[in-house]
Amino acid sequence: MKEMWDSRYANKEYAYGIAPNNFFKAVLDQFKPNGKLLLHAEGEGRNAVFAAKMGLVVSAFDISTEGKRKALQLAEQENVSINYYVGELFDLPLINEKFDIAALIYAHFPPPLLSKYYKKVAELLNPGGLIILEGFSTGHIELRKLNPNVGGPDKAEMLFSTESIQRDFQNFEIIQLEEITVDLKEGLYHNGKGKVIRFVGKKRL
Ligand SMILES: C[S@@+](CC[C@H](N)C(=O)[O-])C[C@H]1O[C@@H](n2cnc3c(N)ncnc32)[C@H](O)[C@@H]1O
Repeated sequence: MKEMWDSRYANKEYAYGIAPNNFFKAVLDQFKPNGKLLLHAEGEGRNAVFAAKMGLVVSAFDISTEGKRKALQLAEQENVSINYYVGELFDLPLINEKFDIAALIYAHFPPPLLSKYYKKVAELLNPGGLIILEGFSTGHIELRKLNPNVGGPDKAEMLFSTESIQRDFQNFEIIQLEEITVDLKEGLYHNGKGKVIRFVGKKRL
């Protein structure tokens, strides 16, 4: 898995572009949250750098060493600083910190990790903290078959549904939760119609 992502990110070009994900940007523009943000599986840093430019204190992690290299390169170009760790969440010092915002943008993990993963995502947030999530939904599998250029996992168990979000984030007030079809234009690997879950939740006090 790590090798696949390292090889994808070894290219000069940014795999998902350098512009932030549209939904992530729209939520930050709307809520203008302050404080500490943790970006899970952040890849080449497009969202981290955008958030740092908005004044957030940004931490990010990913299993890809090449992802970190590209993220720090982008941060330097844009004149901002971010804390970026390589590894799996449970092995990182980040699990002893607390954050005001968590973002999972196309952060898809295999089932053995999932049961305890979302519990930890929630635990790392301060009460009243925001979660921002966009990821492919179970309905995406059919669209991916028609157009592999849109990307995303081919295994349904790695995808989100409105039911899985309600089950995994029970201690959150739902601000937005929907499954919609979007026209993705994100770099080289997310192109075309995709079905996604968009979720904004606020951790209960
Ligand atoms: C589709 S990319 C999304 C990257 C970034 N969030 C973005 O939107 O540009 C998925 C990312 O998940 C990372 N990843 C996969 N499994 C992971 C794990 N167990 N822990 C941390 N990152 C992981 C990959 O290295 C890859 O960067």
